[in-house]
Amino acid sequence: MVRAAAMTKRKKIALIGAGNIGGELAAQISRMELGDVVLFDIPAKENFAKGKALDLEQDQALSGRDSSVIGSGNWADCAGADVLIITAGIPRKPGQDREDLIASNLPIIRDVADNAKKHCPDALAIIVSNPLDVMVYEFKRRTGWPKQRVVGMAGMLDSARFELFLAREAGVSVKDVRAMVLGGHGDSMVPILSACTIHGVKATEFVAKDKLDAIIARTRKGGGEIVGLMGTSAYYTPATAAVQMTEAYLRDQKRMVACAAYLEGEYGLKDMYMGAPVVLGAGGVEKVIEVELSPEEKEMLAKSAKAVQGVMDIVNKMS
Ligand code: LAC
Repeated sequence: MVRAAAMTKRKKIALIGAGNIGGELAAQISRMELGDVVLFDIPAKENFAKGKALDLEQDQALSGRDSSVIGSGNWADCAGADVLIITAGIPRKPGQDREDLIASNLPIIRDVADNAKKHCPDALAIIVSNPLDVMVYEFKRRTGWPKQRVVGMAGMLDSARFELFLAREAGVSVKDVRAMVLGGHGDSMVPILSACTIHGVKATEFVAKDKLDAIIARTRKGGGEIVGLMGTSAYYTPATAAVQMTEAYLRDQKRMVACAAYLEGEYGLKDMYMGAPVVLGAGGVEKVIEVELSPEEKEMLAKSAKAVQGVMDIVNKMS
């Protein structure tokens, strides 16, 4: 008799929302074989999720990869997930701010949180839905999960935008550019110039101040620029960022990246989610790193926190 050798069980990654980001997440995760994928959406969109999943499983067959991709409208299929990536909600339309999405997306994140708590009590939750910082906060509040297991994807996306614009302006490879964008995922986000380097050399030595200011302004509006062109939100880069966060967790990479993290005194901020550098590893958000900020950066961060707090106040009134 031929028997398959005993193997470590594959990880399970449940994608809550089968829209543009959900589909791209499923494609990347299945190609990397990070684990088996459940592409979940509400019953009205279940067949859509099933169709995408089937297409991707056929892609797996063509490429000879074994991990599975299933579509589902049933939370029971997400049971026991190791990672939940939540993109559920309505994306922005041209002219809308992320904050304009509160009324539509708050009830959605609350429902997702209740089901996550029931069906996937041990998962790491990566939230992508907007308005980001407040959606992550609400998810943590509603589930009561520890801060290490609830994190928001934004800083990596904002930093990637900044890195691209900087690389193009300096005429160097994006591979050699490092940038760090902190604060809320909105127009008040804070690029930390002292931490932006081209192979260790401060970006300010390569790029003139007026050009840097233009790059900062473009980064702040980076999501809106794409919404204006496409009529809906970006999805390739948001997906790549969430996949890299997932990989850092599942493979215990201890990556230091910018994410929306729960702050308990770091940067003088308490009981809120905002973009900060963190270490992501097998323990989830293992550490929030406090970097030295210039007085100007401190001021910008405080302003950004105030903007996030303003959205949180609206949400708290909607309890
Ligand atoms: C963006 C959306 C995903 O910044 O918030 O493109």
